[in-house]
Amino acid sequence: MANPLTFTVNQRPDPVSDEDRAAILAKPGFGKFFTDHMVQITWTKDDGWHDAKVTAYGPLQLDPSAAVLHYAQEIFEGMKAYRHADGSVWTFRPEANAGRFARSAARLALPQLPEVDFLASLKALLQVDQAWVPDAGAGEESLYLRPFMFASEAFLGVRPAAKVTYCVIASPAGAYFSGGLKPISLWISKQFSRAGIGGTGSAKCGGNYAASLAAQTEASEHGCDQSVFLDSIEQKWIEELGGMNIFLVYKDGRLVTPALSGSILEGVTRKSILELAKGLDLQPEERRIDIDEWRQGAESGEITEAFACGTAAVVTPVHRLLWDGGEVSFGPSDDAGPVAGRIRQTLLDLQLGKVDDELGWLTRL
Ligand code: COI
Repeated sequence: MANPLTFTVNQRPDPVSDEDRAAILAKPGFGKFFTDHMVQITWTKDDGWHDAKVTAYGPLQLDPSAAVLHYAQEIFEGMKAYRHADGSVWTFRPEANAGRFARSAARLALPQLPEVDFLASLKALLQVDQAWVPDAGAGEESLYLRPFMFASEAFLGVRPAAKVTYCVIASPAGAYFSGGLKPISLWISKQFSRAGIGGTGSAKCGGNYAASLAAQTEASEHGCDQSVFLDSIEQKWIEELGGMNIFLVYKDGRLVTPALSGSILEGVTRKSILELAKGLDLQPEERRIDIDEWRQGAESGEITEAFACGTAAVVTPVHRLLWDGGEVSFGPSDDAGPVAGRIRQTLLDLQLGKVDDELGWLTRL
């Protein structure tokens, strides 16, 4: 096994001023601002992983024939760094992200970055950009971490690239949706599927998100925030949203999410909610869910709440489900329902260090 990588650090000579950074952290939105530095590591078929460095954040130099620009050989992760009340900075279940990143790499025929180097890359960036992690407050503010890997070889033949670049960038983050905790509405897309059997649906690759965009446009045209994707064969079984997993809450305490079908992303937040559910007096279930079960359950009052979840979305309540020819509303229209609210607070309390980390889910950066 190769030795762990060591990172050279080239500090940016002109970092963002304390004043400008404070203004950004006061109103970060999502994905709009970036920290002073980034991590970059190179892989080649001959030399493996090498040249690990922390450099100034800035444009990448890419040959126009770089394979990623033509064949989308690319994967990414989404994680967050949280500041605790004592000033220390932590991240949530990074081993789970490292494992998923390795599985995504295998599916996209990219090289696997060892877990130890994945974790070291996050630490290396946080060592220079600690000041960008928002102070512990009452909300969900954090520093969103985006590791990604792409085929940087300049070559137009269709085969796995012999040169690959791995980077980590970081972006101060508030709520993913502009309405904050205001419940969102979902559009059931019958026209588009996100992924199919044997495809890349369970990998976190850019192509899946590109494939979701036409449906996202369709959703926006119908006044909705996100679209719900159904399975690609029967157009019947709920899969996930454009960039989040989905949970339904039943009035008898069942907490149901679609089982991993091979075309659904195995969300770290999804997995954590399933593991926390019993301690919250809920009965977690992973199984196939017919879209009609949701429509009818919401109409009859059997299904009382629904929520989207993911690293970016945390837990975002859903209030309306719309489709060609109908709609149904459920749960409160202006706030999270009691179950979604409790799950969201439980997760955030853990991530922000407000309760003991009994499960050992936090790693110090
Ligand atoms: C995340 O939750 O980290 C994602 O990658 C989803 C994306 C919609 C931001």
